[in-house]
This record gives sequence, structure tokens and C-alpha cells, in this order.
Amino acid sequence: MFPKERPRRLRQTETIRRLVQETRLVPDQLIYPVFVKPGHSRQDPIASMPGLFQWSCDTLVAHLRQAYDRGVRSFLLFGIPEKKDPVGSEAYARDGVSQVAIRAIREALPDAVIIADLCLCEYTDHGHCGVINGRDVDNDATLDLLGQTAVAQAQAGATLVAPSDMMDGRVGAIRAQLDAAGFTHVGIMSYAAKYASGFYGPFREAAENAPAFGDRRTYQMDPANRREALKEIALDLEEGADCLIVKPALPYLDIVSDVHRAAVVPVAAYQVSGEFALVEAAAQNGWIDRRRVILETLTSIRRAGADLIITYWAYEAAPWLSPLG
Ligand code: PBG
Repeated sequence: MFPKERPRRLRQTETIRRLVQETRLVPDQLIYPVFVKPGHSRQDPIASMPGLFQWSCDTLVAHLRQAYDRGVRSFLLFGIPEKKDPVGSEAYARDGVSQVAIRAIREALPDAVIIADLCLCEYTDHGHCGVINGRDVDNDATLDLLGQTAVAQAQAGATLVAPSDMMDGRVGAIRAQLDAAGFTHVGIMSYAAKYASGFYGPFREAAENAPAFGDRRTYQMDPANRREALKEIALDLEEGADCLIVKPALPYLDIVSDVHRAAVVPVAAYQVSGEFALVEAAAQNGWIDRRRVILETLTSIRRAGADLIITYWAYEAAPWLSPLG
């Protein structure tokens, strides 16, 4: 009375397992987030994100050339300015840290996909993602500054701008300002479903953008909400988003799956700083097999429906994904 169906038949060797593998991942699908600050020859370690650095423009360009050679060709850029102010002026200044870096990367790697993170929180002295009115962010007053930032990033040579502020109506406002300035070819990758998550903790050290008071729960989504993500993506698509981001990734795979099914545009999942730190900390303790777990997280995010993955492991993991690896 042995069973007729034996799923193990297709698991007998590495070769046959690869033949029937449903989910595949190649370096072209990875986006590598990086942090740039003013100065020269800097490569400052980020304590909460072991193995990652804040770069100055020169060292960043050298690092990204190496990434490019390893097969990682898409980068998400975060700028850390020298000076902050209440309205985040350096975000949209022509010579702002991010714009200077975009120009340098564009010159060194003409075909790279440069995605400019578009948010004011790294540039405001209060650390919120827009201008403050009373104790909260003024949505509509922020839109014009986001549009100006997008134009400055486009002028510098960004391929895509990625608004991560979660203001209502920002995709439409950014699209209008880009078009008016002649940048009809620059696309918008919107953080459409971005949750108010504790998993951003280590990033706040890396990008120096912790809010000085309160938190981001009046603009980022409530982790308890699933259907609301579909409303957010519908609005962003209506306003002209070219691709969408779900963030964080691993604790939100149901959202990744829903968004992939609901939208006919590329969907990226952002494996955020806390997801990175969790794995690194457990690996440092010898509690998990680091490489195996990293690959398993990336595979799972793809399996759930992410077309692209934004991951701090892009540089390291790209060579692991070779078919002969
Ligand atoms: C803010 C921004 C954040 C991240 C990316 N853009 C943090 C926040 O919303 O507080 C988090 C990324 C990560 O944790 O890796 N514009």
C-alpha cells in the first residue's frame, strides 16, 4: 500500500531540484540602498548595520563600480546633509549632497539605474518627512517641496525618484512638477504601502533621521491594516506611479502578495534595516547559518510576489545568485 504520488522523486539531486525550482532570483532584480554624506575618503561604519557604511561621494563611486561589476546595477540613494533646517532646504538644493552624488554616479556609470530616495526627513532638523505645523506634518505645504526635490534629483541625473514620505497626493504633485520642468522621462517608484514600523530602527542611525518628537504614525500606515494597502496603491497608480514599493518586506509578505496581484506594474519589496540587523545579530551569535538564511529571505520575498528586492545584502549576495554558484 505504498503511495503512488511521491513528491520526493523531484528532489533527488541538486540538478533536478534546480530544474523544477519555481522561484528564481538574479542580480538584475536587486536594488542596493546606499548612504552618502559630504567629505572625502570617508567610509564610516554603521554600528547597527554591521558591514555597511556611510560613504563620501568619492568612496561611494568606487564602491558602486565594484557593485556594478558584480552584477548589481540599480542603486537607491540616501543623502545625509551637513546642515539641517526646518524645511529641509538641502533636499532640493542644486548642490545638495544627494544631487552631487547622483551626478558623480551618473558620470562613472552611465547606464546605472539611479533611484533617488525622495524624502525630507534626512534634511529637516526635526526629523519629520515634511514641514511642521504645530505638532504635525502639514501635508499640502510639503507637496511643493517634494516636487522641487524631484526636479533637483532629475536635473542631477536620477533615473527614478522614490517618494517615501507618505503624504497624500504626493505622486501626482511630483509628476506634475517633473513634467512641467521637462522631465517626462523620469519615472516614479513610490513607496505606496509603507508601514509605521519598528523595523526601521537601525536606519535611523544610518541616515540620522530619527524624529525629534512624536513618531510617523500620522502619515505611515498602521501595521494592522491589510486592505488599506490596496487603497494606497490604487491612489499612487492613478496619480502616475510607474512602480511600487511595499515596506518592510518579510513581516509584510501578505501585502507583497496582494499588491503583486492587484497591480500590473513592477512591485519592489524593501527588506529594511531591522530585517537586516536581526539576521546579522543572530549570525554573529552563531545561531543561524548566515548565507543560507539571507538567501532564504530573498527567495521568500520573491516567492510572495516581489518583482524586485531592495536589500542591503545586494552587493554581497549578487555573486551567490549565479547559476553556477
Ligand atoms: C524615510 C525612510 C526610512 C527608511 C527609508 N526611508 C525610515 C523612516 O521612515 O523612518 C527605512 C529604511 C530601512 O529601515 O532600511 N524617508
